[in-house]
Amino acid sequence: MARPFFVTTPIYYVNDVPHIGHAYTTVAADVLARWRRLHGDDVFFLTGTDEHGLKVQRSAEERGISPLEWATTTAARFRSAWDDLDISYDDFIRTTEPRHHAAVQEFLQRVYDNGDIELDTYEGQYCVPCEAYYTDDELVDGNCPIHGRPVDHVVEQNYFFRLSRYEQRLLDFYAEHPDAVQPESRRNEVLGFIRQGLRDFSMSRTSISWGVPLPWDPSHVAYVWFDALINYCTGVGFGADAERFARFWPADYHLVGKDILRFHAVYWPAMLMAAGLEPPEVVFAHGWLLVGGEKMSKTRANQIAPSDLVADFGVDGFRYHFMADQRFGPDGDFSYEAMVARYNSDLANNYGNLANRVLNMAVNYCGGVVPATRADGPLAAVAAETYTEVVACMDRLDVAGALGAVWDLMGATNAYIEASEPWKRNKAGDTEGVAGILGDCLEALRIATLLAAPTIPRATTEMWRRLGLTGTPFDVSLPAAAAWGQLPSGSVLDKGAPLFPRKDIDE
Ligand code: MSP
Repeated sequence: MARPFFVTTPIYYVNDVPHIGHAYTTVAADVLARWRRLHGDDVFFLTGTDEHGLKVQRSAEERGISPLEWATTTAARFRSAWDDLDISYDDFIRTTEPRHHAAVQEFLQRVYDNGDIELDTYEGQYCVPCEAYYTDDELVDGNCPIHGRPVDHVVEQNYFFRLSRYEQRLLDFYAEHPDAVQPESRRNEVLGFIRQGLRDFSMSRTSISWGVPLPWDPSHVAYVWFDALINYCTGVGFGADAERFARFWPADYHLVGKDILRFHAVYWPAMLMAAGLEPPEVVFAHGWLLVGGEKMSKTRANQIAPSDLVADFGVDGFRYHFMADQRFGPDGDFSYEAMVARYNSDLANNYGNLANRVLNMAVNYCGGVVPATRADGPLAAVAAETYTEVVACMDRLDVAGALGAVWDLMGATNAYIEASEPWKRNKAGDTEGVAGILGDCLEALRIATLLAAPTIPRATTEMWRRLGLTGTPFDVSLPAAAAWGQLPSGSVLDKGAPLFPRKDIDE
């Protein structure tokens, strides 16, 4: 039976509309999901929206509509943004759905029965945009350290999650699972935070009603983060389908931004332990996508919608840029100029021109029919190394590195054409030599196309067809399909128009 593989994105707050920061995490998750599916895994890729909490309630109030109406409108925008970017999610969860309320209540009851939730009084500082509490020394000039804006002083009688009881268990867990937080710098950050000592945190609210009522005391609703994290369990059938849940849990990858690492790598594993469940295999925290050196936010009005860039670069151009240009780990600065430059060099030139060149020569010199691939052609070894390198990169979620390896294969193919000069051989009547060279180049193009497919699904599907292959790159299975010599000779090629027309920055 296929290996289950469960990957998630954060669920996005519905008080905001989708921007390229959200898209960045979501595209990366999609590339990973497609990559694992190519290997025959039984992938479950979950995304969705986080619809409870004060922030959403306030956004709805400002618009004079109910929180659910507001959430429904924005959730639809996220869904359509992902559909427009070819995100192959298997499920889109909304935290207002009955299945999620049921799962949250079941989860909470387990933790409560376990004695890890107790009533207490809380006094402290709360940042609504973060939906998080801060201690006085975490504030910067009295303001939220993330948003730089004033926090609310709150005094509440709430239920508390006894996080402090999990300090040692978390440290033990991370000692036994050294890869559970990635990259390593983030792991150190998490360990440092736990070692400073963990405080219990308030996990319920009476001040608002927009949330999931606690099953043993419905006058309280669950704190939005407590409810939101549980979406990952709901998505794979927690409380509804025990068999399915057992199959997919624990999650293989939670992809998150560094801003929400603590919730995922400290609170969440402790909550799971308290409910008698296993922590996720890997929490991978990436950096922020900055615009003009700053994090995108509504208040700074520097948000860029995915559709703005898709209009100029196409879906593949968008996906490729963020995967190749912004390493999945450190912060990266977005610039339109860099996007144009990379599009032109990598997509228009290296991939597009290579394909044009090879297909044109095959049409002109070989009658548009695929010649046989040579088992010992010089590109065979390069292609084998490429696959190995891509696997190594994808194992550490280095999508940029994986793409670099694929583009190196294209570079090697181009260099081989330059060195072997098939046009001269054609003139000299060396039909066999020309067929050998072009057969190899087409096969290298097939392998590069296949390995690039998770990132640029549309262009590679079209290239697959032009190479005379049936179906799409997503119909084959790795690693077998990456082996050299599988392009069927005799199939008919189609030159087609340029896949990635060059961009002029001045336009
Ligand atoms: N609702 C919570 C997550 C709950 S998960 C159980 C939340 N939502 S959010 O919409 O504010 O942000 C979610 C994620 O969007 C971030 O962690 C990050 O993955 C992504 N990003 C939002 N802005 C971003 C950038 N500027 N750059 C990169 N990623 C960004 O937090």
